[in-house]
Amino acid sequence: MPNCLVCENKIEPFMSFGKMPIANGFLIPAQFDNEYFFELKVGFCAECYMVQLTEHVEQEKMFHENYAFFSSTSNWMSKHFKNVADMIMSKYLNSESPFVVEIGSNDGIMLKNIASSGVPHLGIEPSSNVAQVAKAKGINTISKFFNEKLAASIVQEYGHADVFYGANVMCHISYLHSIMTGIKKLLKPNGTLIFEDPYLGDIIDKTSYDQIYDEHVFYFSVSAIKKLVEQHDLEIVNVEKLSVHGGSMRYFIANKDTRKIENSVTEQLEIEKNIGIHLKPTYEKLSISIEKSKDKLLRLLKSLKEEGKTVVGYGATSKSTTVINYCGISDELISYITDTTPIKQGKYSPGKHIPIRTHENFTANYPDYALLFAWNHSQEIFENERGFLKNGGKWIEYVPKVGLKE
Ligand code: SAH
Ligand code: TMP
Ligand code: ZN
Repeated sequence: MPNCLVCENKIEPFMSFGKMPIANGFLIPAQFDNEYFFELKVGFCAECYMVQLTEHVEQEKMFHENYAFFSSTSNWMSKHFKNVADMIMSKYLNSESPFVVEIGSNDGIMLKNIASSGVPHLGIEPSSNVAQVAKAKGINTISKFFNEKLAASIVQEYGHADVFYGANVMCHISYLHSIMTGIKKLLKPNGTLIFEDPYLGDIIDKTSYDQIYDEHVFYFSVSAIKKLVEQHDLEIVNVEKLSVHGGSMRYFIANKDTRKIENSVTEQLEIEKNIGIHLKPTYEKLSISIEKSKDKLLRLLKSLKEEGKTVVGYGATSKSTTVINYCGISDELISYITDTTPIKQGKYSPGKHIPIRTHENFTANYPDYALLFAWNHSQEIFENERGFLKNGGKWIEYVPKVGLKE
């Protein structure tokens, strides 16, 4: 049995998705033969409540100079991160020498707002191609993996930070203790650690199993984060439920006994107790729901194929890699996937090698059905794609339930 990455207790996997490729590993035909696969398995630690992958892909295989995810492809997320920057600047920079550090700063979607206000900042982004985009916008960025050692050198060069922020990145890092030790070193004594990640409660509630892929090493809950940060003499002082990325949680963390703890923390812990986030049977039930979801989606796609309908995928998301490979969806069921990200276009999807095409390809010749892989951006997409519906097109959704959008 594997060991928990947080407390080293033995954990039993509750679900295997079988062999999986790198979720963001879009490729060209010459690379098909050497594609990397690992077993995607997820387990629950009964000791510290952390849900996590039990086999891990080396970080350099996922985050590198050809990283395919550019945060700024979504206008909604740009607005979301503008609000984050405003919140940080108005509430958390009360010192005379303000300094904001962000990990996983990607193409600068959040920090550009801090930089344009003239606030000293530093982005830490190991994927050098996306980091380069941020640098070109004038955002101070270093292209390295954050850890305890890097924290010490940042303190030497820049001093201590008021805010350490991370969105959709803390859950990507297997060495969380080194990260926490580094953050503690880097923050001022009254500084704040703020991070947000997809929320385990939503994954359970919506059977959004496609959140499970190589990059997401952890599936956070308030219960598990509480235990983790307490080991570092830190405490959660506030939490905020967010609607982005299919349901996320934002955690506000400070040095122990330095702040008032908001009611939101105890309230959310109570909610988690009620949904059984700390109990093994919750995850056994989840694995049954996942299998049912797969069967239903496959039945639907196969029946549409038998009727001779054209079906394409919408959004070559990292999440779609899990759905496509776990369900065994080939280019016979989905002829292509449309995506607005240039680096993905003209390539093939990881594992099943479904072609990725431009958005113009989609609008020039609407299919009968589009399977919404980018369901976390549904509001933005439905607003933009009225033409598809006018043309008689229909959306297929699979989260929270498999079926056609009414
Ligand atoms: N914060 C952005 C990007 C999330 S994708 C957003 O929410 O849209 C995760 C990012 O974290 C990637 O760009 C990846 O290169 C980066 N990353 C992965 N491991 C990291 C580490 N150890 N330190 C800093 N960044 C890391
Ligand atoms: P994400 O779910 O990981 O944020 O990835 C979203 C993907 O969907 C990304 O590759 C861009 C793509 N996309 C589109 O193709 N059209 C859209 O309108 C939106 C919002 C995203
Ligand atoms: Zn544990």
